[in-house]
Amino acid sequence: MSGTRLDRAAIKQLTLAVAAGVVASGAAIALTVTSAWLISRASQRPPVLTLTVAVVAVQAFALARSVFRYLERLVSHDAALRVLATMRVTAYRRLERLAPAGLPAFRSGDLVSRLVADVDSIADRWLRIVLPYTTAAVAGAGTVCFIALLLPSAALVLAVSLVVAALVAPWAAGRAARQAERRIAPRRGELAVASLDLLQGCAELVAFGAAEAGLERADAADRALAQAESRSALGRGIAAAVTALAAGTAVWASLVLGVPSVRSGALSGVALAVVVLTPLAAHEVFGALAPAAQQLPRINASAARVQAVLQQPDPVREPAAPQPAPSPPYDLRIEGLSARWDPGGPDVLRGIDLTVPAGRRVAIVGPSGVGKTTLAMVLLRFLDPSAGRVTLGGADITTLDGDTVRTIVGLCAQDAHVFDTTLGENLRLARREATEEQIRSALRRAGLLDWVEGLPAGLDTDVGDFGVRLSGGQRQRLSLARVLLADFPVLVLDEPTEHLDEQTADELTQDLLAATEGRTTLLITHRTSGLQQVDEIVRLEAGRLAGVQRV
Ligand SMILES: Nc1ncnc2c1ncn2[C@@H]1O[C@H](COP(=O)(O)OP(=O)(O)O)[C@@H](O)[C@H]1O
Ligand SMILES: [Mg+2]
Repeated sequence: MSGTRLDRAAIKQLTLAVAAGVVASGAAIALTVTSAWLISRASQRPPVLTLTVAVVAVQAFALARSVFRYLERLVSHDAALRVLATMRVTAYRRLERLAPAGLPAFRSGDLVSRLVADVDSIADRWLRIVLPYTTAAVAGAGTVCFIALLLPSAALVLAVSLVVAALVAPWAAGRAARQAERRIAPRRGELAVASLDLLQGCAELVAFGAAEAGLERADAADRALAQAESRSALGRGIAAAVTALAAGTAVWASLVLGVPSVRSGALSGVALAVVVLTPLAAHEVFGALAPAAQQLPRINASAARVQAVLQQPDPVREPAAPQPAPSPPYDLRIEGLSARWDPGGPDVLRGIDLTVPAGRRVAIVGPSGVGKTTLAMVLLRFLDPSAGRVTLGGADITTLDGDTVRTIVGLCAQDAHVFDTTLGENLRLARREATEEQIRSALRRAGLLDWVEGLPAGLDTDVGDFGVRLSGGQRQRLSLARVLLADFPVLVLDEPTEHLDEQTADELTQDLLAATEGRTTLLITHRTSGLQQVDEIVRLEAGRLAGVQRV
């Protein structure tokens, strides 16, 4: 469990929390013990002086219980938050290494829930399971030993009843809850579907006079869900009943076992009060365990989901000792390159050879699905070659750190993401310290400057979620401006004109070829028109390079 392992500081804090918890629980139990002793001893009317120690002890235990409980909460929550922070960072690091090639295995909404809710519930494992159980085990063992000194048979009963409360109760409740959960999940889905249909299809339902039937369907789904949920409450009820039964049995059994011992003189009457009342205090500590332990199946499922992300294999192997970045000129050579997405699957690219001397611009054309984006991913070092190699300025890119390669090779991706912020911020993403002049120049070359200057808010204009306030052409030009601003020596443009109409596509192609003049450029496209300005057109067919056409 590499990602969920604890660091030294967290272990220290958790140990401290357990210690504080043990003292708090011990004090709570000792409070009952001394109170029981005090009350029964007082009934014998001894000289008051003989009771003072017990009176002071009761006060001390009462204070200690609260103070140490507070300390336990403080330290354990601090530790849990620390564990949480480390785990989130580990998960994000992993995602960074996986993106983009290793992520299609997960759906994005699902990935968000893995990162937020599931990581949260792993911290719960420490806070709600490991800590309380450890604390209870130590405090319980101490109490059983103490009772064993007075009446061994009662200690045995107490031990068994504590095990029942800690393990049997949550197990029985868990079984009931699992059965109910199996019925609840599909019913919750039915209710969601029925409600959504009502909301989205409202106009049609009313127009066709079907609203009543729709409402009835939602109502029936709601009732079915409520029924299933009340059954799941049965699980919690069972746990509460078993816990109470265990505590009650321990008290009664201590009494039944203790009375004969008092009669035979083996146990004093005052000690009997202690033997009978102590199980109540011990069970108060153990009573909190069952409700938390019922969460265990959910917590384990969450842990498994986080592990699945952490253990996803790397799409690229970073070199153990990365070479320093090569120096310009960055001639790009692709030699016998094959690549595949699925380690056991077929090659998507098969034996590709291509040389692009620095400053040359090559268009790679081919229909959808032949592997054009795959080639871009290999060049950006998001995917390892399965055979052959790619060199950049003479250096094999697999000997370089991925980030180093990506400071030299820039990608204007197919469907590049536009962030929900201002135009200016979307551009500065490429280069934090860009000056106004550099930004204007990038915008001019991308053919956006006139438009931006015509906007009332200029660069401070918000683009909206996923850039909805931009037209398709403007969004592509913004992505182009972004890579131009970043000033990469080698540019890979993946389908920059996708989803655009013919005329806009041709205009954008002209503009981007003008903007990339003199820069090593691979223009990947399925369109063959408007490519007069490139130095070479290469056709990719079914993973192979076919027919190299010189312009
Ligand atoms: N991230 C990915 N994971 C798995 N397979 C992929 C991935 N991207 C592309 N492929 C597969 O690789 C093949 C080539 O796809 P791609 O390189 O996107 O083609 P193009 O860009 O030419 O349309 C397709 O069969 C596609 O299913
Ligand atoms: Mg593609």
